[in-house]
Amino acid sequence: MPELVPVLSKEDINRMISALAKEISADYEGRTLILIGVLKGAFIFLADLIRNLTIPVEVDFLRVSSYESSTSSSEKIKLTKKIENDLQGKDVLIVEDIIDTGLTIEYLIQYVKSLNPLSVDVCTLIDKYERRRKDVKINYTAHKALKGFFVGYGLDYAEKYRHLPEIYDLKL
Ligand code: IMP
Ligand code: MG
Repeated sequence: MPELVPVLSKEDINRMISALAKEISADYEGRTLILIGVLKGAFIFLADLIRNLTIPVEVDFLRVSSYESSTSSSEKIKLTKKIENDLQGKDVLIVEDIIDTGLTIEYLIQYVKSLNPLSVDVCTLIDKYERRRKDVKINYTAHKALKGFFVGYGLDYAEKYRHLPEIYDLKL
């Protein structure tokens, strides 16, 4: 049986999100901010984050899939849902569930930059840094972890556990 080890409670998550939202609201005051959620994992985080912001924002989503069998890193990642909003003249904040090797977020930053926004920054729920391969700048982090496999609060393992309100480390 897989074991679920509690990592972050509902209270921990609420506290982290409220602090993050305060920081983002202050940094983007008076600007035109669009938050771009990376599907599917970031949907709950994004939903809670925007409701804690005190500034108006637009919201859009994109989606990627990765193919573990491919050899090169750029080959591995495929954009399966593009951004629909116009990004010209806007400040973009990409909202991810978790950054591991950094390959996905690096690919997404390049894609978003190609759509000519004013700026592109990154916000992640979890920065899991032990296996990092790309030196990407993460502007906002809710939680840092060396390693583990995290599920719950939107994050899945084979499409399971997304619905859990807390975050767990899954021990298979
Ligand atoms: P990266 O390209 O290696 O940074 O991987 C990022 C993506 O892998 C994330 O957006 C997640 O979808 C998935 N991922 C990596 N680690 C975990 C984890 O601990 N739990 C759930 N998904 C993960
Ligand atoms: Mg993801």
